[in-house]
Amino acid sequence: MAQQQIFLVFLLPLTCFVFCTLCSVTSGLAETEALLKWKQGLPKQPALDSWVSPPEANSSGAQTPCSWRGINCDSSGRVIELNLNNTGLEGTIEKLNFSALPNLLTLNLQDNKLSGNIPEGIGVLSKLQFLSLDKNHFSGSIPQSLGNCTDLRVLSMALNNLSGIIPPSIGRLTNLTDVRFHRNHLHGDLPQEFGNVSSLIVVHLSYNNFSGHLPPQVCRGGKLVNFTAAYNSLSGPIPMSLRNCSSLYRVQLQHNQLTGHVDQDFGVYPDLTYIDISFNRVRGELSANWGSCQSLEALIMAGNSIRGNIPGEMFQLKQLQKLDLSWNHISGEIPTQIRNASMLYLLKLDRNNISGMMPASIGSLSNLELLDLSMNRLSGSIPYQLGNCYKLLNLNLSHNDFNSQIPYQIGNLYSLEDFLDLSYNSLSGKIPVDLSKLNNLINMNLSHNNLSGSIPDSLSTMLSLSSINLSYNNLEGPVPNSGIFDISYQSDLSNNKDLCGRIHGLRSCNVSISHWRSNKGKAVISIVASLAGLLLVSLVLVGIFVVCSKLKSRIIEQNSGIMKESTFSILHFDGKNLYDDIIEATENFDDKYCIGQGASGKVYKMVMQGGEKLAIKKFRCEEYDLDLQILKAFKSEIEAMTEIRHRNIVKLYGFCSQRSHTFAVYEYMEGGTLADFLKNDTKALKLDWLKRVDIVKCVAEALSYMHHDCDPPIIHRDISSKNILLSANLEAHVSDFGTAKFLKSNSSVLTAFAGTLGYAAPELAYTLTVSEKCDVFSFGVLAFEILMGEHPGDLISHVHAFDDDPNINFKEI
Ligand SMILES: *[C@@H]1O[C@H](CO)[C@@H](O)[C@H](O)[C@H]1NC(C)=O
Ligand SMILES: *[C@@H]1O[C@H](CO)[C@@H](O)[C@H](O)[C@H]1NC(C)=O
Ligand SMILES: *[C@@H]1O[C@H](CO)[C@@H](O)[C@H](O)[C@H]1NC(C)=O
Ligand SMILES: *[C@@H]1O[C@H](CO)[C@@H](O)[C@H](O)[C@H]1NC(C)=O
Ligand SMILES: *[C@@H]1O[C@H](CO)[C@@H](O)[C@H](O)[C@H]1NC(C)=O
Ligand SMILES: *[C@@H]1O[C@H](CO)[C@@H](O)[C@H](O)[C@H]1NC(C)=O
Ligand SMILES: *[C@@H]1O[C@H](CO)[C@@H](O)[C@H](O)[C@H]1NC(C)=O
Ligand SMILES: *[C@@H]1O[C@H](CO)[C@@H](O)[C@H](O)[C@H]1NC(C)=O
Ligand SMILES: *[C@@H]1O[C@H](CO)[C@@H](O)[C@H](O)[C@H]1NC(C)=O
Ligand SMILES: *[C@@H]1O[C@H](CO)[C@@H](O)[C@H](O)[C@H]1NC(C)=O
Ligand SMILES: *[C@@H]1O[C@H](CO)[C@@H](O)[C@H](O)[C@H]1NC(C)=O
Ligand SMILES: *[C@@H]1O[C@H](CO)[C@@H](O)[C@H](O)[C@H]1NC(C)=O
Repeated sequence: MAQQQIFLVFLLPLTCFVFCTLCSVTSGLAETEALLKWKQGLPKQPALDSWVSPPEANSSGAQTPCSWRGINCDSSGRVIELNLNNTGLEGTIEKLNFSALPNLLTLNLQDNKLSGNIPEGIGVLSKLQFLSLDKNHFSGSIPQSLGNCTDLRVLSMALNNLSGIIPPSIGRLTNLTDVRFHRNHLHGDLPQEFGNVSSLIVVHLSYNNFSGHLPPQVCRGGKLVNFTAAYNSLSGPIPMSLRNCSSLYRVQLQHNQLTGHVDQDFGVYPDLTYIDISFNRVRGELSANWGSCQSLEALIMAGNSIRGNIPGEMFQLKQLQKLDLSWNHISGEIPTQIRNASMLYLLKLDRNNISGMMPASIGSLSNLELLDLSMNRLSGSIPYQLGNCYKLLNLNLSHNDFNSQIPYQIGNLYSLEDFLDLSYNSLSGKIPVDLSKLNNLINMNLSHNNLSGSIPDSLSTMLSLSSINLSYNNLEGPVPNSGIFDISYQSDLSNNKDLCGRIHGLRSCNVSISHWRSNKGKAVISIVASLAGLLLVSLVLVGIFVVCSKLKSRIIEQNSGIMKESTFSILHFDGKNLYDDIIEATENFDDKYCIGQGASGKVYKMVMQGGEKLAIKKFRCEEYDLDLQILKAFKSEIEAMTEIRHRNIVKLYGFCSQRSHTFAVYEYMEGGTLADFLKNDTKALKLDWLKRVDIVKCVAEALSYMHHDCDPPIIHRDISSKNILLSANLEAHVSDFGTAKFLKSNSSVLTAFAGTLGYAAPELAYTLTVSEKCDVFSFGVLAFEILMGEHPGDLISHVHAFDDDPNINFKEI
């Protein structure tokens, strides 16, 4: 083997020399030479092992690279295809001698890590029909010479770092069917010649900074299927050829400054499934024609200047799932035909001028997950039938003129999660006790109404609730003193008739505040005392656990409702885009976005369009480390974990194992890991004793919830200070629940878990048997670490020997 390699090293320059001297080289030799030379210049070319100088001429006497990976030849042995998509190539194509490959029809290098410029020389490939350089790191500009490749049908350079303009010469490519330049840094006007390319089927220009007008004749040939130009700086009219472009399937032009009339510039599209023209300058009234686009699944026109009524025909679209007309000037009433749109899961009509009653038939929309009718002029009572929309996750009816009582059936909306906002209406009567059944709800706002009576005690049992606003009502009587009310601000209860309770600023009821304080104090002492007990019997830990879990944590999550909503919609409605967005926003997991590193992988910070932040944990494992069988088996459990809402558990938004990446998407925590806090002297000062005890309690709460309130129980398996994250106000959140189990037990990653073995119970560490006890033991170690400021280290291994070793100074601990 080694001999062979040495042989090659000597042979290669030699063969090269031989080729160069024989000037009457056959095309086969020139191709071989050009390709080998390119290979030699690449720093990484794992896929090109088969690319070696042909050891002997093949039987027909010609030396061809035809048998190499990714190469295809025509019948006379000329290279016509170079197809190395997703093969891990790194380096540039600047040294690839294209003039030696004049017969190339297909050049596909997509999904690699190639960088540098796309050389002008590429223009010599006059027969080229398919060019894809998608998903690489190419920079520089698009070569002008591409205009010479007049046979090109597919021209695809999306997801790179290209800058500059699209050269006008591209207008000469009259056979183009697919043009993809999306997600680069291109700018300038688009070549208007695009209009004369009548073969266009797919045009993707989104996420650049193109300016000027869209080519008016982009659908000249009547074949255009997918057309996206979103998130640019385009102005001017909606291309007029779209009007009778009946082939359209998907259109995304959102976030530009396009002008036009929603009634004149669009026609009837039998195949159109998705259209987003939101946040442009489109005017006019919605025409009933939209009701004839029978395939339509999503119609998104938010943030324009659309007026007039919503045509009832719109709701006869059997496939319609997403209708967003928010931020317009729509008036009139919500058509009762709405009941027919039974597939709707998102209905946003907020920030318009819609009046009248909310139709009771909205209750037939059993798939509805997000309903936002806020900031309109709706009046009358909230129909109780709304309680049938049991899949609702977000409900916002705020800033309207709804009156009479809150229907108790709202309490049947068990799925409600991110928010229930009925604020700024004229609702009266009592707060329905049934609202306490909303156990997944995080934010509830009933402020600025005329609600009266007392606050139902049961609201304090709502498990997920993180914020409640009852201010500006006519409420009276005692405020419950547990659950969410343990942490409510005075401002959330202000301006009522006569509320009393322990919250600062309220008159106290008959029970004195000092009584409550002393109870709280006892609880703290009992924790510390119990912790000392850990040293005696690890079983006692289970005891603390129970004590701890009985205590209510204090945590104030300042969730911006809007952020929650958009994050949510991305995951549940647009998972594919999220994947691409993550790759894009982190530049394919570039280290500069890395904010932390644990045993199982790195964590990256991702800032989305719109500013919301997510934490992406990319597992260190490659595909072979991941037990796909297990992953599949636990699919439902992952799904369950994404549904868990607990104040002390970092929200898992999604989990993704795709291509070579496996990652989990989490809520972003400003404070970083507890480990970093404890290690850093400056930061550690911020953690006073009470804060530290609070952190221990929060972790106990989270574990208790996962072990006892989840069925089946979910075991963390990797409790350590690296997995405890702190929010901006230093509340502890446990992250990374359960994900350790998806790794193969013999994978290199699990061995790497040794880093956190310091937290594992000795009798369990070696067997890797998992039960709640693992977490309880780790919790004990963690509690020590929090109180001592550092990992207790060897102390733990002495625990077993405790009885015989009087030298350990437990007092000091
Ligand atoms: C040998 O070359 C001929 C054409 O020149 C080609 O058809 C054949 O596939 C080649 N064989 C190998 C093993 O490369
Ligand atoms: C890219 O390669 C994959 C296999 O690795 C293949 O399935 C896919 O069709 C290729 N794409 C193109 C455009 O050739
Ligand atoms: C390609 O086009 C450029 C101008 O765009 C021209 O100068 C050049 O001669 C053409 N031919 C080749 C082979 O590049
Ligand atoms: C376009 O393609 C057709 C075949 O589909 C071919 O005859 C024609 O020459 C091509 N046009 C150009 C400008 O390459
Ligand atoms: C992207 O291109 C610009 C210049 O065009 C360059 O400065 C930058 O380093 C490139 N970024 C990456 C990630 O290659
Ligand atoms: C487009 O084609 C028309 C003829 O069909 C021609 O008059 C016009 O000049 C062409 N426009 C461009 C920009 O090439
Ligand atoms: C995009 O282009 C517009 C005008 O063409 C310019 O004002 C703006 O600064 C550009 N934005 C970026 C991010 O380059
Ligand atoms: C669109 O309408 C124009 C005239 O109104 C016509 O010339 C053109 O052929 C039509 N295109 C399609 C694809 O029907
Ligand atoms: C159009 O887009 C849809 C969805 O993204 C995709 O499934 C379809 O294959 C695309 N059609 C073409 C012709 O590329
Ligand atoms: C709308 O739904 C009602 C019943 O909910 C049904 O009678 C009617 O036929 C539906 N209309 C259409 C156009 O589907
Ligand atoms: C809202 O609609 C009413 C008529 O229903 C109209 O009088 C009023 O001017 C509209 N307000 C706005 C801001 O468009
Ligand atoms: C400790 O934290 C402070 C403030 O957060 C920061 O400025 C400093 O760089 C950190 N020190 C170390 C050693 O990480």
